[in-house]
Amino acid sequence: MPFIQDFKPVALKDSNLFKPIKVGNNELPQRIAMAPLTRMRAHHPGNIPNKDWAVEYYSQRSERPGSFIITEGAFPSAQCGGYDNAPGIWSEEQLVQWRKIFGKIHENKSFVWVQLWVLGRQAFADNLARDGLRYDSASDGIYMDEESKERALKSNNPQHGITKEEIKQYIKEYVQAAKNSIAAGADGVEIHSANGYLLNQFLDPISNKRTDEYGGSIENRARFTLEVVDAVVEAIGHEKVGVRFSPYGKFGTMSGGSDPTLIAQFAYVIGELEKRARDGKRLAFIHLVEPRVVNPFDPEGSNEYKDGTNDFVYSIWKGNIIRAGNYALNPEIAERDANLDDRTIIGYGRFFISNPDLIDRLEKGLPLNKYDRSTFYAFTDKGYTDYPTYSEAVKLGWK
Ligand code: PHB
Repeated sequence: MPFIQDFKPVALKDSNLFKPIKVGNNELPQRIAMAPLTRMRAHHPGNIPNKDWAVEYYSQRSERPGSFIITEGAFPSAQCGGYDNAPGIWSEEQLVQWRKIFGKIHENKSFVWVQLWVLGRQAFADNLARDGLRYDSASDGIYMDEESKERALKSNNPQHGITKEEIKQYIKEYVQAAKNSIAAGADGVEIHSANGYLLNQFLDPISNKRTDEYGGSIENRARFTLEVVDAVVEAIGHEKVGVRFSPYGKFGTMSGGSDPTLIAQFAYVIGELEKRARDGKRLAFIHLVEPRVVNPFDPEGSNEYKDGTNDFVYSIWKGNIIRAGNYALNPEIAERDANLDDRTIIGYGRFFISNPDLIDRLEKGLPLNKYDRSTFYAFTDKGYTDYPTYSEAVKLGWK
């Protein structure tokens, strides 16, 4: 696996990216985050974080002191899941492994925040049916695509718009997962309200056809996300909570830029978070997916949405902002955005998979290892813990 060709790295050591910043209670020496990355190495049954390789994987990526790691998404309960090989954070067996991962990251003097992930209609309905679980979303029968519809109907688990009681139960599960994360040693949690997962399914009218107080208006569609945020903040403290949005995302057949009114939806939610901040409960960060990546399965540079930016968020939210989405191959844009306002952190995802020492490479402007997408979700240590650091790659003769 060679270095990326046709890419001119830029040393970012003199940019804002390498100035310290405080995120929640964590003092970061640089403004760089490892974005959450699904890796599908958890053990089935039980959604147990990988016992053989996960500690090593996270250790490699947090070796530089002060690295800010947001974990792969973790399910607060079995009902929140539906992927067999993604981890949960509800059972003692899972927490045994998480403690080892968090402990190792802290031993490296780095920081770890757990992404809390609820799939909703992006789950596999047949897996859920097998385990006696519902296939949930904001509304009945509004499938993402034909394939999900077929899976749901074949397994006799049609898409179910959750009841208000079920919303309350999900909120309890988010709270318990946040408490479990902190008790197991994590520094904070990120609530995933992006990329077409359950909370995003409520935000977007393409999937939310509800007529109760959780649908039909901007305020109503925002309610579930805000209730989750409020409950988690109440449980573990505002400084330990962040939230992720993808205003232009189309993954999970969200509307993205095709609905010009959606920006108002995100502006409203973020305004509500700023209101809470002014009342003394400022979240540690808001994490935004950039319009350069409307679908994480698109190769870098393809399908970019060019008619909008996330800059509007700065006019509303006055706290830290993490921005992620193909910054690795655009170092000039990383530098520009990090300089845009003195509270921006740049998140890197895919190139953190293939470059365990990514922060060093960004600092010095070193070449980047290519990634192998075919092992992103493979149940192997290959493509997980075997990417070399820059000096190892040079020794291996990589060019
Ligand atoms: C994925 O599993 O591909 C995935 C998960 C969470 C995201 C985006 C993509 O936010």
